[in-house]
Amino acid sequence: MVASYGAKLLLLIALLRCGAKLGADALSMDYYMMSCPFMDQMVRSTVYQALRRDPTLAAALLRLHFHDCFVQGCDASVLIDSTEDNTAEKDSPANLSLRGYEVIDRAKQLIEDQCPGVVSCADIVAMAARDAVFWAGGPFYEIPKGRKDGRRSKIEDTVNLPAPTLNVTVLVKMFGQHGFDAQELVALSGAHTLGAASCASFKNRLSNFDSDNGVDPTLDTDMARTLWRACTAGDGSRVPFDRSSYTFDSGYFNALRRGLGLLSSDQALFADPRTRPVVNAYAMNDAMFFLDFQQAILKMGLLDVKEAGRGEVRRDCRRVN
Ligand code: HEM
Ligand SMILES: *[C@@H]1O[C@H](CO)[C@@H](O)[C@H](O)[C@H]1NC(C)=O
Ligand SMILES: *[C@@H]1O[C@H](CO)[C@@H](O)[C@H](O)[C@H]1NC(C)=O
Repeated sequence: MVASYGAKLLLLIALLRCGAKLGADALSMDYYMMSCPFMDQMVRSTVYQALRRDPTLAAALLRLHFHDCFVQGCDASVLIDSTEDNTAEKDSPANLSLRGYEVIDRAKQLIEDQCPGVVSCADIVAMAARDAVFWAGGPFYEIPKGRKDGRRSKIEDTVNLPAPTLNVTVLVKMFGQHGFDAQELVALSGAHTLGAASCASFKNRLSNFDSDNGVDPTLDTDMARTLWRACTAGDGSRVPFDRSSYTFDSGYFNALRRGLGLLSSDQALFADPRTRPVVNAYAMNDAMFFLDFQQAILKMGLLDVKEAGRGEVRRDCRRVN
């Protein structure tokens, strides 16, 4: 009796699994419900453990998701290591200081032990970003799953990533190519409420710096001094985007309003009349920022997603199968 019930259950699970594979033309919230029911918890606990040890990794995991989705779609192409005959995305100058790869590897390992060959690296990257945002005090959003991993990762594809020197006209155009409007550009840029940038990314702003008088007429005086001091310590020295760089909040937008944006592309959002009202709104209303961010990042997580047939489930996130 018990045995036959068990057998029926197994059959049902097998059928549903099969169905999930055949019906993979759309992502779904419960994509792995039958095939790997505990993978959500496995990602979450791996991410939380890593963040307890190193809170700066929250920013790293969020940025990884962005760099994945804006290049070749959300297909974990950013995780692939270069080989003898291929220089991968991660070795582009645009990858500057990308981190968090080991966290993804650890989550993948845990999941592979339970359900080998089932959960894609692309889904793990998207879930890790979600968990990092929540851990840092940001909104919690549930994400649909079922992305497949891509087989292409080429250094030249990273031209699609925005440079920190861009003005709003170019940013609006770049984000527009991915289907985002100016408001969504501002919401997504709000990711810079977490983390830091290296001098290499903002030294362009110091071209007018007069080190004798310690001023740059185009920049807030204290800001100019802070940046200049950081850069005397070398291109790699890092400055946080806002004062609460471990906390996901509207501090970034408040910084922009005071002229304390770190990158040219950050401060430009306040300087430009097309985006300034959105910066002001988010600075005053973090519930609005959270809601818009959540919707925009969900949309980002669906960029050019590969479904079954156009991708694979990588066994090792750093190598195509
Ligand atoms: C609007 C266009 C954007 C530009 C020009 C830009 C550029 C940059 C640059 C230059 C850095 C610093 C890299 C370094 O010097 O180490 C950075 C860091 C970061 N970016 Fe962006 N970014 C943009 C949008 C985004 C978006 C949409 C997200 C996520 C949704 C994001 C998430 C992050 C995070 C979290 C960091 C901090 C990383 C860390 O501390 O490890 N950025 N970004
Ligand atoms: C990023 O690219 C640089 C070359 O521009 C390379 O030296 C570095 O190792 C890469 N970083 C990672 C994490 O792969
Ligand atoms: C924005 O940058 C582009 C490319 O550098 C430049 O052609 C354009 O004139 C700039 N627009 C504004 C409004 O500054």
